[in-house]
Amino acid sequence: MIPQRKTEAEKARIIANCPKCGGVGCAICQRYCSFIGDMADAGIPVDYWFRDLGKWYGDPEFLDWLVSSYLGNLGTIYAEGKILCLMGHRGVGKTMAACGILKKAILAGYSAHYTSLVDAVDNLVSEEAHEYRRILRLADFLVVDEVDQRFFGSPNSRALYGNQFEAILRARTQNRMPMVICSNAGDPDDIFAGEFQESFRSLRAQFFVEKVVRGEDVRRSRGGDA
Ligand SMILES: Nc1ncnc2c1ncn2[C@@H]1O[C@H](COP(=O)(O)OP(=O)(O)OP(=O)(O)O)[C@@H](O)[C@H]1O
Ligand SMILES: [Mg+2]
Ligand SMILES: [Zn+2]
Repeated sequence: MIPQRKTEAEKARIIANCPKCGGVGCAICQRYCSFIGDMADAGIPVDYWFRDLGKWYGDPEFLDWLVSSYLGNLGTIYAEGKILCLMGHRGVGKTMAACGILKKAILAGYSAHYTSLVDAVDNLVSEEAHEYRRILRLADFLVVDEVDQRFFGSPNSRALYGNQFEAILRARTQNRMPMVICSNAGDPDDIFAGEFQESFRSLRAQFFVEKVVRGEDVRRSRGGDA
């Protein structure tokens, strides 16, 4: 969830710096503010609101694929309802790419939802689980970020995260709804260990599109400044 005060502050900043009206308020900055509101509602982290895939300086091959095969075909992607699995080391731009997809989807009129796996599972075991399950099921485009091996390593966390994650995957794939997952794993089989491996393997074979994002940690090499 994005803090409301933060969202309002960003909107005020956009209006104040609007090159068209200089802070009075006009159609241009209002439209931008409405997009800000949509990104906040979708749960896209604030740091990614203003990061533009046009300024991507990571893996060029991946960006080419993302722009031409995914962002350029959102209608087909939506119809096919596959699970895009973005894998790669820390700081290579997985979250940036996933948020870029949600932003494009919002601009194209789709609904979108971003969550980390930890936040999703927190919500799924809370009192609001019923309502949250609807969001996960109904969002046109869903991102589940930080699907880390650490959640599937020990038997205790595996029981909790494995069960909940499998339920999310099934809810999405049953209705052929697209989803993006981001992981630090080098191979999806490394994420899903133990008793979940077999069922994940079959979902993987049927629904996954897997992309490795290469490159160095941008946060270290550029201080995260895009
Ligand atoms: N290719 C890129 N071009 C421009 N900025 C980038 C690029 N990749 C990452 N960044 C910026 O660098 C920072 C790290 O990227 P990001 O958070 O997307 O990495 P990540 O792969 O999700 O890392 P982690 O595995 O730690 O979650 C962010 O502030 C992001 O906006
Ligand atoms: Mg990330
Ligand atoms: Zn304006």
